[in-house]
Amino acid sequence: MRSVRPLVLTALFVGSAAGGLSPVRAAETVTITAAGADMRAAYATAQDIAEGKRVAGNSCSKCHGMDGLSTGEGVPHIAGQRPAYFQLEMKVYKSGGRGDNPMSRAVKYLSDDALMKVSAYYASLEPAQPVPARTVAGAGKAAPAKLDPVSAGKETAAGCGGCHGETGISSMPGMPSLVGLDPKYFVAAMKAYKNGQRKDEIMKPLAAGLSETDLNNLALFYALQKPAKAKTPAPGDAAAGKAAASACSGCHGEKGVSTNPAMPSIAGQDAQYFVAAMRAYKDGSRADASMKAPAAGLSDTTLRDMAAFYASQEPQMPKVRKPLSLAEWEERCDRCHGVNGNSTDPRSPALAAQRADYLERVLRAYEKGERKSAEMAAMSHVLTDAEIEGLAAFYARQRARSVVYVILPPPK
Ligand code: HEC
Ligand code: HEC
Ligand code: HEC
Ligand code: HEC
Repeated sequence: MRSVRPLVLTALFVGSAAGGLSPVRAAETVTITAAGADMRAAYATAQDIAEGKRVAGNSCSKCHGMDGLSTGEGVPHIAGQRPAYFQLEMKVYKSGGRGDNPMSRAVKYLSDDALMKVSAYYASLEPAQPVPARTVAGAGKAAPAKLDPVSAGKETAAGCGGCHGETGISSMPGMPSLVGLDPKYFVAAMKAYKNGQRKDEIMKPLAAGLSETDLNNLALFYALQKPAKAKTPAPGDAAAGKAAASACSGCHGEKGVSTNPAMPSIAGQDAQYFVAAMRAYKDGSRADASMKAPAAGLSDTTLRDMAAFYASQEPQMPKVRKPLSLAEWEERCDRCHGVNGNSTDPRSPALAAQRADYLERVLRAYEKGERKSAEMAAMSHVLTDAEIEGLAAFYARQRARSVVYVILPPPK
């Protein structure tokens, strides 16, 4: 065990000059204070590396090659992997922490010293470079970049903007605004058009072609748009409408902003659509148990006034969490794994140019709790399948850079 004093290392990115690897650029100074971190592989000597090479030839090369580059599906690239992480992994495999697999059997009988040295050897090699998708099966899977839900919703909504406004703010009398609607209500309304429970000749065919995912994406897109009142005329008497609306506030909110996803918000709604909806509840052509009684007995004048009142109220954005885009995820992952997955911390694995199929498998293993890491558990349990595939494809495409570590004198 080395001292408990903080260890200050400078990580230097290494370039592959014609004559071999040479430091090209100081990347970052890393201060390691974790007393328990075993850093021996990070400052191994040339002698250690030469001995590690012999271990590799005896115990590792038949699967990983002497160059540490993947030989096929299921085997990760290990060349240039960060030394302290590498050494830690060796211990985990040796102790059976990843279950019984080819790796644990390969390292079971190796001493800690041999594992440190073989880690230093492979860590010193030039890493894999990204393979253009499609040329090598499984390496950097040719996955078309999947859109995040909000962007996908925006794309689908392109066909709706002509009537509902580009961001769901109506400027055509009779067309409802879609901003400020809770996604649950939105999806329920679309399904009601689809299954005919809510009858509308225009919306029925439009809703028919949309999948459940399309509906969720659309709902999310509109829910995240900046709300504003419909840009359509509202000719009634808003003051008179306000008095009449007191009967409605229990369900729709005092100012037409509902807090219950089952009750639509009606603040800022187009007045002509509002009146048409109320008439439809009245005559039963829009059948709804909650709205039948409130709509009954209201005169056309009252409806117009209420429409004017609600149209004058400010719609609000419903409470929804904006999912992170792939770029935002990458930014978070890079905080520990380095810019584009080129870690500068000897304890954090590099991800750049790793095989996509391996990255996907590992991320799923963290998600299911099969592989445990305090740092990764917090990151991965909220990743969707599409995000896992997108992140794996992203890191597999990045240019990998190897790093050498230089120990600096400890700070005074
Ligand atoms: C029988 C084939 C085989 C042998 C021999 C073998 N490995 Fe592996 N290695 C694998 C496979 C397969 C995996 C992926 C296992 C997994 O998904 O957990 C792996 C994973 C690894 C990883 C994890 C990579 C990462 O980024 O976390 C490291 C490091 C590694 N091997 C190093 C070595 C070293 C060093 C040796 C020699 C001491 C060795 N392996 C011997 C097949 C082998
Ligand atoms: C040709 C014009 C038109 C197009 C295009 C259109 N809609 Fe509509 N939409 C309407 C009309 C008219 C209504 C009101 C129907 C009713 O009274 O039930 C409506 C109602 C709705 C409602 C119910 C609103 C509420 O407050 O209950 C939703 C949700 C909706 N449309 C979503 C969409 C989506 C999503 C698209 C694109 C896939 C779309 N619409 C395309 C005309 C259109
Ligand atoms: C008991 C709760 C309740 C009360 C009271 C109530 N509503 Fe509703 N309202 C609902 C529900 C639930 C819906 C959604 C029904 C559906 O899906 O068609 C709705 C729908 C609406 C809609 C259609 C919104 C849209 O986007 O299509 C309007 C307009 C409306 N209500 C106005 C009123 C007015 C005006 C009053 C008072 C006179 C009122 N409501 C009273 C529960 C209520
Ligand atoms: C707080 C720091 C931190 C963040 C943020 C983080 N990771 Fe990690 N990651 C780690 C550490 C530490 C390990 C090694 C854990 C272990 O030993 O299993 C790791 C391991 C991994 C591995 C396994 C590498 C291998 O070669 O086997 C992958 C893949 C990975 N992370 C991907 C990601 C992705 C994708 C993100 C963003 C969604 C992310 N990480 C965010 C710290 C982090």
